[in-house]
Amino acid sequence: MKNIHCLSLYLCSILLSFAAAEIPPPWAYGFKDPVPTDWQPAPPAPPAPPTAPPTDPKKWTLPGTDRKFTTADIKNNFNPADWYPGDHPAMPEIVAHGKAPVVWACARCHYPNGKGRPENAGIAGLPVDYFIAQLQAFRNGERQSSDPRKPNTKMMVDYAKGMTDEEIRTAAEYYGSMPWTPWIRVVETERVPQTTLSAGMFLQIPHGGDEPLGDRIIEVPEDADAVEIQRSPRIGFIAYVPIGSVKRGEAFVTTGAGKTIACATCHGPELKGQTLAGVGTMPSLAGRSPSYLFRQLFDIKSGQRHGKQADLMKPVIMNLTTDDMLAITAYLASRTP
Ligand code: HEC
Ligand code: HEC
Repeated sequence: MKNIHCLSLYLCSILLSFAAAEIPPPWAYGFKDPVPTDWQPAPPAPPAPPTAPPTDPKKWTLPGTDRKFTTADIKNNFNPADWYPGDHPAMPEIVAHGKAPVVWACARCHYPNGKGRPENAGIAGLPVDYFIAQLQAFRNGERQSSDPRKPNTKMMVDYAKGMTDEEIRTAAEYYGSMPWTPWIRVVETERVPQTTLSAGMFLQIPHGGDEPLGDRIIEVPEDADAVEIQRSPRIGFIAYVPIGSVKRGEAFVTTGAGKTIACATCHGPELKGQTLAGVGTMPSLAGRSPSYLFRQLFDIKSGQRHGKQADLMKPVIMNLTTDDMLAITAYLASRTP
């Protein structure tokens, strides 16, 4: 930028804003490679053939339940397997079955217990009014992804548009009735297992060796098969984070470290969320997926997530680099919810 002579202040500010546009780190968005600058969405696929694909009759099992499901049952978008009905209250219709043809069952991605996965979100224990405001934000175009390839953020937008206010409230009350409990184990390391991607989720390759972690957070299931094949909602995740990142993040989160504002000011003591009169409702941050939290910080900084409440985060992220945000989310994930 140093060699560019700005013709006017206006032109200069446009050039600078282009220069400032950062490429979203692919690890947080479920990709191996950064989004190409000339990326275009693929043309719509031709309609699927009318005959249903053959289903594998094999029935899967999991420990602690006598239920058995086929792969088709597990991946049924409008009636996904519920392995442990005793782990959660009775699911409302929209959570268990969605609303065909557009709105998939919330349980399909976030699980019946709301634990979710790194490529979507943990939504158990969110304050009801915050949850409702997020669905409205998806609906109004105030929540999009900085990585235009990320398919499931677009799906969330379609669901929010397809739901009534009543359905949104019902889902918010259901998931809000369950507490957020420990789900992520944070491990500082220099090397990580080799991984492959399955629909935006990193999976360790069996006997695949390892590779340098570098400046990334890689989140993988504690048991790849049980999560990938059976979609067990009782198996949490390991977040591999760079050595020293938890301590570095702690300084930002607890004091601001001269670059930001102590998060507890708004997110409450122990970062468990709170409502402040005249400010709004802040969600809990403790023990949540670092990839998810990182995407939110990056998306708020890039402006893809914005709006009256999200803009309260602007002064928080303004001076933070991608590395600072990585450290912050490593620390947040390591906190006990
Ligand atoms: C296809 C998978 C999928 C399904 C099905 C799905 N979601 Fe989501 N949801 C996502 C993804 C992905 C995100 C995070 C988007 C991002 O990171 O950009 C998300 C985020 C959310 C959030 C925001 C959480 C936060 O902390 O701000 C809420 C609330 C939510 N979903 C509610 C729902 C409800 C209610 C349903 C059922 C109608 C549902 N979702 C169904 C994929 C899904
Ligand atoms: C001035 C108040 C304020 C401060 C200080 C603040 N936040 Fe927030 N934060 C908010 C509000 C309000 C929201 C909810 C935005 C919305 O409703 O869209 C939020 C949302 C978030 C989210 C998105 C959560 C989700 O579930 O999607 C993250 C991540 C976050 N904040 C991280 C932080 C971190 C890290 C810090 C400290 C470095 C911090 N915040 C400090 C007000 C604040």
